[in-house]
Amino acid sequence: MAFFKKNKSLVGLDIGSSSLKAVELTKFKKSYQLSGFAYEPLSPDAVVDGAIMDSPAIAETIKKSFRAAKFKTQAVATGVSGHSVIVKRVVIPAATPDEVEASIQFDAEQYIPFDIAEVNLDYQVVGSGRTGREDGMEVVLVAAKKDKIQNHTNVITRAGRTPEVVDIDAFALQNAFEANYTVNPNAPVALLNIGASLMNINITKGGMPLFIRDVSVGGNQYTDILQKELQLSFQEAEDLKLGKTGGSETEMVQPLLESITEMLIMEVQKTFDFFRETYPSETIGQILISGGTSRMVGLAEKIQETFGYPTEVLDPFKSIAIGPKVDAQKVTSLGPALTVAVGLALRGFDQ
Ligand SMILES: Nc1ncnc2c1ncn2[C@@H]1O[C@H](COP(=O)(O)OP(=O)(O)OP(=O)(O)O)[C@@H](O)[C@H]1O
Ligand SMILES: [Mg+2]
Repeated sequence: MAFFKKNKSLVGLDIGSSSLKAVELTKFKKSYQLSGFAYEPLSPDAVVDGAIMDSPAIAETIKKSFRAAKFKTQAVATGVSGHSVIVKRVVIPAATPDEVEASIQFDAEQYIPFDIAEVNLDYQVVGSGRTGREDGMEVVLVAAKKDKIQNHTNVITRAGRTPEVVDIDAFALQNAFEANYTVNPNAPVALLNIGASLMNINITKGGMPLFIRDVSVGGNQYTDILQKELQLSFQEAEDLKLGKTGGSETEMVQPLLESITEMLIMEVQKTFDFFRETYPSETIGQILISGGTSRMVGLAEKIQETFGYPTEVLDPFKSIAIGPKVDAQKVTSLGPALTVAVGLALRGFDQ
């Protein structure tokens, strides 16, 4: 198991709190082709805040949906996110890779607010840096709770597949972006993957993550407020949010939804403020939003209006062909919700 492992065809499996998404890619021309995919809604209690609660149900869903998708490979790359994952850029007082290794082995607690015995640690040296008056090496440190990783690998094994790679959703997000868009080496791009319960934020520049954070906000909050204020069931509220139904309370819906958008934007604001403090010389050039909630009507426009950066919905198939055996209409309708799964599947190829 490794965070940075590459070079094997893999099914990218994103186990989200609202649905399971899986993607298989094959090399095609100079890019990739989507050769198969699966999408299966999950019951609201099966995955909560990125943590798997009902393993048997998830394993069963993987088994069934993978069989229906006719994936060719047994090997799976999955991702973790939420509270039990931390990605941090730190400058380590070290001059050589060996010194970096030693420093991380011995001083990891200094950088990571977890019990080191309970996490898997990985890192990548991204350049040289400076700590105070000392020169050092700049490192992206990744820590993920072992039990969380194990929950993910266990359901995959239980479903009869091989868990090959455990990645971080925010990295997969960046991978999907880079496979589809031209990366500007000079301007950071803010990637916001807004799901049902979590928003993965990755502010990336020239192929490197500058700032990564998961925030506990998402589409469920739109549904929740409709459910509470209008006394609806979850499903009724969800349908109303998606515009599938319109009731007599329609004039109340818009202001309620807007209040959640404002709260969500405030969370983004906090992250951008923190980013600006950490990197005063950097200016974000663009925002790309993805995840199911990126399709909330008017959200991209509202984000652009608030921050003044060009904002678009990320298309994970902008440069990836849709294979002939795939239901192209369904893929298009899911679109940005498949971003993390695409990024996970890309782990199988050298980039
Ligand atoms: N067209 C749409 N308009 C608005 N919201 C939508 C639309 N389609 C899906 N959503 C919302 O997107 C959310 C699901 O997004 P996504 O599949 O990215 O989340 P997830 O990966 O299951 O959850 P998480 O990553 O937060 O655990 C749900 O809240 C759903 O209501
Ligand atoms: Mg998700």
